[in-house]
Amino acid sequence: MVDTIGSSHHRLLGKDGLRVPAIGLGCMPLSGVYGAADDAASEDLVRYAIDRGVTHLDSADMYGWGHNEALLGRALKGRRDRVVLATKFGQTQPERPGAPNGVNGRPEYVRQACDASLKRLGVEVIDLYYQHRVDPDVPIEETVGGMARLIEQGKVRFLGLSEARPETIRRAHAEHPIAAVQTEYSLLYRTEAEETRQTTRELGIGFVAYSPLGRGFLTGTIQELAQVDGRRAAHPRFQGDNFAQNRKLIARFEAMAKQKGCTPAQLALAWVLAQGEDVVAIPGTRSVQRLDENLGALEVNLSPEEVPELSEAIPAGAAAGDRYPAAAMAAVYR
Ligand SMILES: NC(=O)c1ccc[n+]([C@@H]2O[C@H](COP(=O)([O-])OP(=O)(O)OC[C@H]3O[C@@H](n4cnc5c(N)ncnc54)[C@H](OP(=O)(O)O)[C@@H]3O)[C@@H](O)[C@H]2O)c1
Repeated sequence: MVDTIGSSHHRLLGKDGLRVPAIGLGCMPLSGVYGAADDAASEDLVRYAIDRGVTHLDSADMYGWGHNEALLGRALKGRRDRVVLATKFGQTQPERPGAPNGVNGRPEYVRQACDASLKRLGVEVIDLYYQHRVDPDVPIEETVGGMARLIEQGKVRFLGLSEARPETIRRAHAEHPIAAVQTEYSLLYRTEAEETRQTTRELGIGFVAYSPLGRGFLTGTIQELAQVDGRRAAHPRFQGDNFAQNRKLIARFEAMAKQKGCTPAQLALAWVLAQGEDVVAIPGTRSVQRLDENLGALEVNLSPEEVPELSEAIPAGAAAGDRYPAAAMAAVYR
């Protein structure tokens, strides 16, 4: 097990010098998305992660609608300079309970959202600022133009997009260099990500794999429907027949991890990282032990034969159920 992540495990996002560890920390679960989270323990976890070299922290203004950024702000006191702090704007609170989130990519909203994030985070600059969801009513050039002004004002260092399709990425990058694109990417769900990655690679943009553990499914710890908690319960992959079908795929993968002498979570992350030096992963966890376990993936070396074997064990498109519930699905990959 690595003690702290050394420079040999760092990767470059984009061409302009944004270096991050190959494994970062997805902070969304710290806002109770997949079961309750304890704030004091979460702050300790973030500090522990930084001490282990997990210095790429991924947040968003909509994780707990401000809760996640405020928590990070507390955890980062005295440590700000050691991290690459990434957050996102663009999803807005639903108009009524149960309705889908709104999206807003208007330049004036970008400015407001950034100021609010800076305040909650208690920092002067955000290292990597993503548009969380593309707004179909606002040309991407206008949104990215608004984001670029934040760089001119010293409020943001690098720009990112999330769940943007190749054509959108090209238009955005022509307006202002994009350092990173973030998309769901794991053995379980990778159809869109494979397309996106061809474009990001061609343009020299970094690729940040979110939900690299399939929202926990690829860790082998979710064996029964009764274990599915929080927002995950609404995700098609964890429902009824889909769950049963996906469990079968994952059982095959768990057996491969056993044979390799690592945990399923480590194998899932090693597979993501084996896709290229332009790819980094941001697994989420509330637990110090799991963070340690996940870092062990850096020591799992996959041979040139093992990578395609894993890809064939869970072929692209084989997972049952869309990546998101229907309304949220409509807002991704635009
Ligand atoms: N851009 C976007 O639209 C978007 C969407 C989703 C997520 N994200 C980002 O990507 C990050 C990662 O995605 P994610 O959190 O959705 O999913 P994930 O990383 O695929 O899985 C996280 C889940 O796996 C569990 N887990 C983690 N390590 C484990 C281990 N070693 N053994 C067993 N269980 C383990 C965690 O539970 P415990 O907490 O109990 O360990 C958590 O429930 C998020 O935190 C967020 O920052 C971005």
